[in-house]
Amino acid sequence: MELPFAEPYRIKVVEPLRKSTRAEREDWIIKAQYNLFNLRSDQVFIDLLTDSGTGAMSHLQWAEIMQGDESYAGSLSYFKLRDTINTLLGMPYFLPTHQGRAAENVLFSAMIKAGDIVPGNAHFDTTKGHIEFRNAVAVDCTIEEAQDTTLIHPFKGNLDLEKLEKVLSTNPKEKIPLCLITVTCNTSGGQPVSMENIREVSALCRRYRIPVFFDAARFAENAYFIKVREKGYEHKSIREIVLEMFSYVDGATMSSKKDAIVNIGGFIAMRDKALFDKASTFNIMFEGYLTYGGLAGRDLGALAQGLMEGTEFEYLEARIGQVAFLGKKLTEYGIPIQQPTGGHAVFVDAKKFLSHIPKEELQAQTLAVELYLEGGVRSVEIGTLLADRDPVTRENRYPALELLRLAIPRRAYTNNHMDYVAACLKNIWDRRDSIRKGYRIVSEAPIMRHFTLALEKA
Ligand code: F0G
Repeated sequence: MELPFAEPYRIKVVEPLRKSTRAEREDWIIKAQYNLFNLRSDQVFIDLLTDSGTGAMSHLQWAEIMQGDESYAGSLSYFKLRDTINTLLGMPYFLPTHQGRAAENVLFSAMIKAGDIVPGNAHFDTTKGHIEFRNAVAVDCTIEEAQDTTLIHPFKGNLDLEKLEKVLSTNPKEKIPLCLITVTCNTSGGQPVSMENIREVSALCRRYRIPVFFDAARFAENAYFIKVREKGYEHKSIREIVLEMFSYVDGATMSSKKDAIVNIGGFIAMRDKALFDKASTFNIMFEGYLTYGGLAGRDLGALAQGLMEGTEFEYLEARIGQVAFLGKKLTEYGIPIQQPTGGHAVFVDAKKFLSHIPKEELQAQTLAVELYLEGGVRSVEIGTLLADRDPVTRENRYPALELLRLAIPRRAYTNNHMDYVAACLKNIWDRRDSIRKGYRIVSEAPIMRHFTLALEKA
């Protein structure tokens, strides 16, 4: 008999979860004004809000916490991280930051000015926020295939080279400070970018002398997909693939709360000494001195260790296998999801799930509230609320995809939890026609509104 798959780790510490009744949840969600960010964590049974900073650290990462060197300058934990980034990513310069958006803030302060254009593949919301905050524009050049959730395509995070070339050829070079490739592409469903596409984007940008950067939050998951899906990479190790990916770019911003499996942390990696010097000043102003950048020494050590663990094939196979496990269950139940499943989350196609609810009534958010009420599962809307308003017209932007994201924390939940989540969605799927109304916005912030907005029943 062929031996079944089993996780390459065992559990050393457990954290009890609290179940609740439907009546309790109905009360809590009203008090939260139908915004799941407003819930207390003990009002949630299974928390799939995000895979960011929610993973379980290993015993070796906890050992790093004890060994952390808390010196203000020249911390040994910093040098450990510097050497790891140098070896793994092949990047000579790096700046630690407290998380990914801080890396964006520092790098963009050094690179982006008003009126600039930053092409990329469906920039993440904080990334877009940091671009638009500087009165610059983020142009989405993702391939059209990403918009069709039923289409099986191995690399739905890819950039469309024609779309990109149009941006590069119709704008002055001085207005395009960088091109940003998000690996994997969170917004389009945790979808990977192929090595071929990275190579071609890099070559195209080089012709126009535009630097290319990664938003590298989930670079290791991207490398896993290249290994298992792209011809010529099946025999390469994850670390060889990672090194090749980074060889095509000039630098990266990193949210270490994802693929480095830490609860807090980020960094900027780069090749150019002049850019490093310029960004260093902003880092000192916004984050902290160059050898800690808003983190404790212990965090730097855990991050270095996490980068090594996050780039192990067996770990990635278990991690992405669990996402695929949930995706397969939902597909078996007939629930429409973004196919194929991505690296960190299953994305339910809310537009198809609740096709009878008008888009103005926020289909994905409606489904998020239903899922919470059904079983205490917290998910997140990746749709109209997240897309924000157009900065010029102030009209709502209705994105092509209206998704409900079930983001799976790393090494934290078992497949029994996934079964539970799938059953909750199945129950809602079976009674979907009885959901007659969605929600409307009562109040919202001018930018990145989804975190703090209040809703009411439509
Ligand atoms: N880039 C990507 C692709 C991300 O997914 C995130 C965060 C960031 C940058 C910002 O990093 O949170 O460390 O400041 N994504 C989280 C999520 C919040 O839930 O997808 P951060």
